[in-house]
Amino acid sequence: MHKIVSKARLSPNVTRLDVEAPRLARIRQPGQFVIVHRAEGAERIPLTIADADPEAGTIALVIQAVGKSTRDLVALEPGEAIADIAGPLGKPTELIASGRALCIGGGVGTAVVHPIAQGLHRRGVSVLSVIGGRSKEWVIFEKELRALGEVIVCTDDGSYGRRGFVTDAAREALAAGGIDIVYAVGPVPMMRAVVNLTRPSGVRTIVSLNPVMVDGTGMCGGCRVAVGGQTLFACVDGPEFDGHLVDFDLLMDRLTTYREFEQAANAACEDGACRIGLR
Ligand code: NAD
Ligand code: FES
Repeated sequence: MHKIVSKARLSPNVTRLDVEAPRLARIRQPGQFVIVHRAEGAERIPLTIADADPEAGTIALVIQAVGKSTRDLVALEPGEAIADIAGPLGKPTELIASGRALCIGGGVGTAVVHPIAQGLHRRGVSVLSVIGGRSKEWVIFEKELRALGEVIVCTDDGSYGRRGFVTDAAREALAAGGIDIVYAVGPVPMMRAVVNLTRPSGVRTIVSLNPVMVDGTGMCGGCRVAVGGQTLFACVDGPEFDGHLVDFDLLMDRLTTYREFEQAANAACEDGACRIGLR
């Protein structure tokens, strides 16, 4: 069992849970994730390890409440516990050893960019983060990223920072030159737009993919993605890949495959059916 030691609401539908997981806190590396199983009968949810405190023996999980399972997870309170957390899973981020990196985080994807920026900063790489949200209350991890380098905040409606998408600020940063590598995490259209920005110059661009995952160990095939014409599994071959090689159309298609079932699960809960066992 993994006790929840603290809980914080980061944006209208994003919650941070710091949970006891001493082994994970000690050995996790940037880019790695865990599969969280709240309780018997619950769905298994893949979540990036957004931060860790090896001394306290805790890891930070950042959860966007979009469906029944994620809503159940964020309903947990400090003192309560998560039954199982499997990991660390996935390949660690490919970190450059020196130079300057542009880290782009869109919405909840900013929590996934944070450990990458941490890893780069520890190596002495100069980090410029461009992060964005729909409006001010959707911007997350700004303070944490400011501790690691320069940060440009963007909001779609201009309520905080500069108005526009993260890609607008990223375009200017790339035009100014001196960027050795780009890491981009967020909605698929955002990652695709970043990749299109860097394609002409060929600046290496790493994206983190979030297809549906089940076992997280390369057994079920649920998380398959096409990269460079090859079928790969995000859970064991990724979740980070060379963005210039990713087939984003296929990824979008596969992400919508289970929408009908997700909507049915949500509707069942709204009817109260989930409380009588219709999970
Ligand atoms: P959102 O839709 O609120 O967008 C966040 C920001 O991304 C925007 O403010 C904007 O700056 C940028 N953005 C969005 N669409 C863009 C576009 N077409 N072009 C350029 N920039 C764009 O994001 P959200 O609600 O926080 O995130 C939800 C999405 O993120 C979900 O689809 C989820 O699956 C995905 N997600 C991805 C990962 C990952 O590892 N790749 C992790 C968590 C969530
Ligand atoms: Fe099953 Fe990746 S989640 S193969």
